[in-house]
Amino acid sequence: NNMMELPPRPTLFDFHGVSMTKYFTDNWDSVQNFKVRPDDILIATYPKAGTTWVSYILDLLHFSQMSPERQESVPLHDRVPFLEIHMPGITSGVDELNKLTTFPRIIKTHLPVQFIPKSFWEENSKIIYVARNAKDSAVSYFHFDRMNMVQPEPGDWSSFLQRFMEGKMVFGSWYEHVRGWWEKKQTASNILYLFYEDLIEDTERELNRLCSFLGLSATTELKRQVMEKVLFDNMKHNKMVNGSVDEVFDSKISPFMRKGKVGDWKNHFTVQQNEQFDEDYKRKMKNTDLQFRTVL
Ligand code: A3P
Repeated sequence: NNMMELPPRPTLFDFHGVSMTKYFTDNWDSVQNFKVRPDDILIATYPKAGTTWVSYILDLLHFSQMSPERQESVPLHDRVPFLEIHMPGITSGVDELNKLTTFPRIIKTHLPVQFIPKSFWEENSKIIYVARNAKDSAVSYFHFDRMNMVQPEPGDWSSFLQRFMEGKMVFGSWYEHVRGWWEKKQTASNILYLFYEDLIEDTERELNRLCSFLGLSATTELKRQVMEKVLFDNMKHNKMVNGSVDEVFDSKISPFMRKGKVGDWKNHFTVQQNEQFDEDYKRKMKNTDLQFRTVL
């Protein structure tokens, strides 16, 4: 067991109207003043939407031919730093980013759109938002909070689901997060809004969308290699991307690469939970044309 000595789990508090923990707010001024380069690429998600999957795709598209050794020896979380993270004992996301010497920088964030440093809008750098349906997001987040020792205690599934509906999760309400970014996309030309379900349905089609959004002319051979490397089972066995180098993850409780499916919510929601969830969902999502698929 290589788990490091861990502090007690953090608690949630209200931060400008969004539930957060100190690990993502302690470095606030540096995050807000983060200096963006025009060629930076931001990948933004509500937690569990496929951040790691898309981060890895972007990393491979940009760097796999140039530096194969990067793939063998540098954990993905060092290649794609997490902008707002600030924890004792590790380099902050902002410091990691300022140390990077390979460009473009690929940056991960879970911040809701209103918290994005203004430099991203000033530089008009490219932003890829990935969204995943609420039910699978809730299930995935539940298992993640069980195994990630720097997240608040998840409690049991039914209380977790209740809190999910109330938006009392780290990074706040799923409903507000996906809607906030969706609305921003209507006026911001630098945002590509992707869906986890689309990526599952047709990875190649979404890879092509990514390439054209980024202005990349990837060869058929490169795309074939990327598609192969980012298959769920291949990622699950790849130590540099599967979370096994992450000391705060206890993969005996639940693996980071858990299932990778659309519709696993059916194995968790009771009939009653599902009815209650659907009703509440309709209310919360009634004024938007944003649509999700919960089955394929
Ligand atoms: P599950 O818990 O449903 O399995 P994030 O990276 O944003 O934390 O998202 C994690 C979720 O994406 C997990 O969902 C994980 O299994 C899934 N995932 C990661 N890589 C994947 C891949 N290559 N194909 C499909 N799903 C993937």
